[in-house]
Amino acid sequence: MNVSTEETDTRRATADVFNSAVAAAAVGAAWEVGALDELEEHGKLDALDFAARHDLHPASTKGMFAALASVRIVERRNNLVLTGANFAEAYRNRSLFHWLTQGSGELFQRMPYVLRNANRVGDYYRRDSAAISFACREINERFFDPAFWQAMDGLDFPFSSVADLGTGSGQRLIQIAKKYPGTRGVGVDIAGPALDMATREVANQGLAGQITFLDGDARALDPRPEFADVELLTCFMMGHDLWPRENCVASLRRIREAFPKVRRFLLGDATRTSGIPDDRLPIFTLGFEVGHDLMGVYLPTIDEWDGVFEEGGWRCVRKHLIDTLTVSVVFELE
Ligand SMILES: C[S@@+](CC[C@H](N)C(=O)[O-])C[C@H]1O[C@@H](n2cnc3c(N)ncnc32)[C@H](O)[C@@H]1O
Repeated sequence: MNVSTEETDTRRATADVFNSAVAAAAVGAAWEVGALDELEEHGKLDALDFAARHDLHPASTKGMFAALASVRIVERRNNLVLTGANFAEAYRNRSLFHWLTQGSGELFQRMPYVLRNANRVGDYYRRDSAAISFACREINERFFDPAFWQAMDGLDFPFSSVADLGTGSGQRLIQIAKKYPGTRGVGVDIAGPALDMATREVANQGLAGQITFLDGDARALDPRPEFADVELLTCFMMGHDLWPRENCVASLRRIREAFPKVRRFLLGDATRTSGIPDDRLPIFTLGFEVGHDLMGVYLPTIDEWDGVFEEGGWRCVRKHLIDTLTVSVVFELE
């Protein structure tokens, strides 16, 4: 067959797109079943031995490694799996793949349905909130924690009570309780499965007496006894759910009233980018922005955030920019 170079290139590029979609699911899976950690530690493993040790289906396990090999995250020699040229970068970003495929997979899979205006009423999409909490725990650790701890270390007042809005896995409160023993924490989330996971995790860590959870909407909080003494507020990776602007202003004001003693509010989130050429987008940006468009959730830019605090009753005293996760930021508000 006589095929021009251009045709060969586009054929290869298109096959790579297809293979990447399968590989993205495989990254999340390989993380969850422990294969990425084992490869990180030993540099190699035997696929069938790994499957046997973890009670996994042998052919599917080999398939997962084949998908990773197609994008050079691993290399394969028969059943031997070795780390590949892209392993370190994929390992660092594995939680973002998990967020996309395991957490948000159904949203993207149902894109044709979700696009139609007629369908966009009620609960027109589904995501796996427990999987998203699982991924977000590591997204926090890898991307937000350095700025978060810098902000915590700079706090110039003592605190004994913390609230976390959109708490997900509750990890933020667990971290705080461990670093500042005796601190009480209350986590608020709108999703039952995330709260179940957080409650289990807190019990496993022996912190059940110290950290509690409430089913609630951070956009419509009323004062309650659990909030009365809270001096420190945190909210990570859900601030965009407070938008659009008018709603965000109202929610920020309401949050102030619900927590009358709060002294600092640490608000960390990824924001909408602008001006990046379509073929130069970094990891996460596209999934994050298109995903929120599909869900009909407004994503503010960093400039839009900057312009909302004053009206919402807060003053931004510091801003930490995070450039490893699209355009992300931690605001210190008081
Ligand atoms: C991306 S996860 C982040 C979880 C956690 N803050 C973290 O950093 O790992 C967003 C969480 O916010 C919750 N959430 C979304 N909208 C909310 C709202 N209006 N009120 C309370 N929780 C909300 C979701 O259920 C989910 O658990």
